[in-house]
Amino acid sequence: MSKLRVGVLISGNGSNLQALIDACQDTNFPAEIAVVISNKADAFGLQRAREKGIPALVIDHKEFDTRAQFDDGLQHLLDHHLVDAVLLAGFMRLLSPGFVQGWHNKLLNIHPSLLPSFKGVHAHEEAIAAGVRISGCSVHFVRAEMDVGPIIVQAAVPVLAGDTPASLGARVLAQEHQCYPLALRWLAEGRLSVVDEKVTIAGAAEAEGALMQPVS
Ligand code: GAR
Repeated sequence: MSKLRVGVLISGNGSNLQALIDACQDTNFPAEIAVVISNKADAFGLQRAREKGIPALVIDHKEFDTRAQFDDGLQHLLDHHLVDAVLLAGFMRLLSPGFVQGWHNKLLNIHPSLLPSFKGVHAHEEAIAAGVRISGCSVHFVRAEMDVGPIIVQAAVPVLAGDTPASLGARVLAQEHQCYPLALRWLAEGRLSVVDEKVTIAGAAEAEGALMQPVS
C-alpha cells in the first residue's frame, strides 16, 4: 500500500505534530510524514520530528522580502520531499492565495475553536469572554481567508466556571490530538469530498465528524 506523503508545517511546540507522528507509527496507518517544516528555528516540534528520523527543516520568513517569495521557498521544500498533502499544525503564518490555491483540498488546518466562531489567535480568550458553554476544535480544508474552509471534523468540550484560556486550551488541545489523526486518515483513505464547500466523508455517518466530550 502506498502511503500519502504529508508535509507538516509548525511554528512551536508541535503537540499536534506529535499526535500525527504517533498515528503514523502504526504500519496500517495510510499516511506518513515526509517532512516537518518550521518558520521558527527554536520550534520544539523540530526536535519531536528529528527524534523519529523525520526530516525537520527551518525556513525563516524574516529572510524573505515578500510573503509570496517565502511561500515559493516553502513550495520548493515540499516538492523536494514529494509531498502529497500539507497539514498546518500550529503554523502561525498566513499563506498567500497562490500557495493555498495550489494545494486546493490538500491543505488542512487545525484551529482551537468551533469554527466559524472565534477565528484568529485569541480563540480561548474570546470564547470565555463571550460566555459560551461549549467550545472545541476544528480541522478544515484551508482557503485563502484565515481560519476559513470546509470543516472535516470538530470536537466539542464544555467551558467550565472559572476556566482560564490555559485551562480551556488544555481541554481543547486533548481533543485536537484525537481529531487531526482522524482527519488525516480520512484524507489519506480518499474518503473526503468537497461539494459546495461542505465535506462529505465516504462510508461514514454525518456524526462521525463530530466528537463530543461529555460534560462532567
Ligand atoms: C493548537 O492549539 C492549534 O489549534 C493552534 O495552535 C496550537 C498549536 O499547538 N493553531 C491555531 O491557533 C491556528 N489558528 P501545538 O504546537 O502544540 O500543536
